[in-house]
Amino acid sequence: MASKSRDGQGDGGGTQRPGRGQTCSFCNRGSGEVGPVVEGPNGVYICANCVDLCHNIIRQEQRRDMQAKPLFTRIPTPQQIKSYLDEYVIGQEHAKKVMSVAVHNHYKRLSAAETDDTDSVELEKSNVLLIGPTGCGKTLLARTLANMLNVPFAIGDATTLTEAGYVGEDVENLLLKLLQAADYDLEAAERGIIYVDEIDKVGKTSSNVSITRDVSGEGVQQSLLKLVEGTVANIPPQGGRKHPEQQYIQMDTSHVLFICGGTFTGLEDIIKKRLGRQLIGFATEDKGEASRERDEILPQVQPVDLVHYGLIPEFVGRLPCVTALETLGVDAMIRILTEPKNAIIRQYEKFFELEDCKVEFTDEAMRAIARKAMERDVGARALRAVVESLMLDFLYELPESKEEGTTYVITPEMVESKTPPTLEAARKVRKESA
Ligand SMILES: Nc1ncnc2c1ncn2[C@@H]1O[C@H](COP(=O)(O)OP(=O)(O)O)[C@@H](O)[C@H]1O
Ligand SMILES: [Mg+2]
Repeated sequence: MASKSRDGQGDGGGTQRPGRGQTCSFCNRGSGEVGPVVEGPNGVYICANCVDLCHNIIRQEQRRDMQAKPLFTRIPTPQQIKSYLDEYVIGQEHAKKVMSVAVHNHYKRLSAAETDDTDSVELEKSNVLLIGPTGCGKTLLARTLANMLNVPFAIGDATTLTEAGYVGEDVENLLLKLLQAADYDLEAAERGIIYVDEIDKVGKTSSNVSITRDVSGEGVQQSLLKLVEGTVANIPPQGGRKHPEQQYIQMDTSHVLFICGGTFTGLEDIIKKRLGRQLIGFATEDKGEASRERDEILPQVQPVDLVHYGLIPEFVGRLPCVTALETLGVDAMIRILTEPKNAIIRQYEKFFELEDCKVEFTDEAMRAIARKAMERDVGARALRAVVESLMLDFLYELPESKEEGTTYVITPEMVESKTPPTLEAARKVRKESA
């Protein structure tokens, strides 16, 4: 509602309406230009921009004080890293091991660079390449890792990147995202992790893959290569927040850990050709034949296969840790429903608990959910959608129709049914089985 309150009147907390006459004492700009200003004692004013700026300066200063201390008091060991990953990521044992070692070494290398300035052995950066189908946990792995290490983390999509000068995002945008994730703390960002998704989509046009691919793929790889190798990049702080009067922010990427991920559809054929022998996958109840074959062949990937696929050799050379993730089978899907710390089923149990009720999924129901999710062919990503549509009516009815203390049971028939089950149906199951 439009109010007629006078400038600088009754706004509480000392905030003044942008009165004509008030000027920020820090940047000397009028409140007409910079918006509301806060009044301090003795006629001092400060605007939002300068508050932000001061905030940044103080934070950077605090960080500098902390610099005296190393990044971690103790760098977590590979085993510690892996057991943390185990809490959130099901299966993918090999990938977890590779990542744990890579990350441990990365931060070891960082702290070595910080502490001794003697020209000792130079430790190479251990950037990681994750190969695996959609929804098998690539992004999850990278994100969980960043959480554990408490370092800034950014996700970018290689398909949106273009060579400088073309329509699309410049690769520097990845760095900008990292900087934003670090709250514009440059030093923190320089030790962060960047996950580049869909890296397989920027392969250069080559003999074996489709010709429809954009020629700029190689250019993108070249630009990415520079970042991955380590360079001082100029980031345009476009839009967003301001930073102390700079046109460009200079960011050194030599300590940024890059994790690249992609599905690399068809890579198994390239590997198979190189191996020159026919492998036969057996379909099991857990996984289909194609997935099993893929799981068997992909771990044998060599740099040459990636080059064949369309990555430039220099780029492949900068991703020394390559690991293949497996397709998730029914059993893994069931575990994903229940085991991770933030597992979907656990979340629903919590919902019901908050309503003083209980929900129970029978083992067969969970198997049915897993199977239904697998039909969608997008890995574990489908699980949430399946469970959500299954539980919609429940959550809709629960707050009003619940009977406190009741246990509602979900059966496989409910999962397979076209119409989602009602609370009443789930309540009856209990009675019948009791
Ligand atoms: N191995 C796994 N363990 C636990 N959850 C998983 C796993 N793989 C996938 N998920 C679930 O599926 C979602 C999508 O996985 P994501 O990591 O984004 O797949 P992608 O491999 O395509 O990057 C995750 O948010 C997570 O909930
Ligand atoms: Mg992903």
